[in-house]
Amino acid sequence: MPSESILTNKHIILGVTGSIAAYKACALASQLTQHGALVDVIMTEAATRFVLPLVFQSLTGRLAYTTMWQTDTSGGLGTHIAHVGLGHGADLLLIAPITANTMARIAYGLADDLLSVTTLAANCPILVAPAMDVGMYENPTTQANIDILRARGVHFAGPGIGRMASGLEGLGRFIDSEEIVGHCRRVLGMSGPLAGRRVVITAGPTREPLDPVRYLTNYSSGKQGFAIAQAAVDAGAEVTLIAGPVSLPAPIGALRVDVTDTRSMRDAVLAHATGDAPADALIMAAAVADFRPAEMANHKIKKKREQAPAPIDLIENPDILYEVSQQAHRPTVAVGFAAESDDLIAHAQEKLARKKLNLIVANDITAGDAGFAVDTNRVVFITPKEVDELPLMSKEAVAKCIVDWVAKKLGSPQNSGR
Ligand code: CTP
Repeated sequence: MPSESILTNKHIILGVTGSIAAYKACALASQLTQHGALVDVIMTEAATRFVLPLVFQSLTGRLAYTTMWQTDTSGGLGTHIAHVGLGHGADLLLIAPITANTMARIAYGLADDLLSVTTLAANCPILVAPAMDVGMYENPTTQANIDILRARGVHFAGPGIGRMASGLEGLGRFIDSEEIVGHCRRVLGMSGPLAGRRVVITAGPTREPLDPVRYLTNYSSGKQGFAIAQAAVDAGAEVTLIAGPVSLPAPIGALRVDVTDTRSMRDAVLAHATGDAPADALIMAAAVADFRPAEMANHKIKKKREQAPAPIDLIENPDILYEVSQQAHRPTVAVGFAAESDDLIAHAQEKLARKKLNLIVANDITAGDAGFAVDTNRVVFITPKEVDELPLMSKEAVAKCIVDWVAKKLGSPQNSGR
């Protein structure tokens, strides 16, 4: 079960139109519901040919609406007129899948079924996920309708490129439901406390090559840093996620910059977080390798029979946060992590001062339920003035606490002087 997020208790209208991809909207409705969203489904008449309303009702635990003439108020609507009640109470209107036909109809303001009339009446953000054959998608008529919708502020999720039910391949494919959930978060977050702020986050380990087949690294999974990136997107920030080698998917809406070793992470951080237009905040959640082999062998290091293996000479890597602290133009807020196995508070306080941080998030890596591989973390927030021990919580909840702290520290964007 996903933990509490920006989707929790959000009222989402899910419009489903008559595409074969309507069956994928079932998984989408289920995922949004599992995230704690209240999902009211409106189906066009064509959509009911592909999926029964009962499927959506069973997945969401709420009424699925199919007709404009329905006056049932048992869905908790504020008015007995369904399209007004649905459109006014919602946080987001998501039409997924949206066909070329429904795009054309809403582009021109037609209001002849419950979904189109609700779209006209809605005063919340609108997000659409197209699904159609490549020829229909690329048709200039469809493209012109897309331009109209974009110009009016309608947000798009996809389409993707790939195989379609027709057997053809191309642009027009309905994107995966996880990605659509990511777009919902992106759109819902747009007016959040970090709207207009640029936040750079690092995550994962760095990897230092020894020879073409071996490297030195650490156990970092990247989970905490990726969760912070998602929480920052949820809060409306423009997020750059500088990721070491991990295979996690980046949050939708974040710019992902993949790096491998400490020096390439340092270069990426300096390029994205410092300089003439520094980021508003830098959150260094990466577990940076402090040392690297003095030399990388060009060939695989071979065993030498009857001889002890050659020792590996290590040299020190740059300290990225320290280098950032020495820049003339650096982020307004800098947050570091301190993973310690002893003297947690004292070591973290020393790093806070040496790297000129506003906040250091310290955790004891010897605890079984906190740290690298697990989904939970128990951290201490340390600032130059305070030490605040947080209880054991999910990495998502820790991420939200960090992002809330940063947003509070930055204040409202009007105070930034930008
Ligand atoms: N960090 C960094 N560059 C490094 C090492 C660490 O920017 N070369 C950052 C980490 O991302 C983290 C903070 O500095 O936010 C503290 O990292 P940590 O590994 O705990 O501390 P170190 O400074 O490396 O000290 P030590 O390993 O001796 O504890």
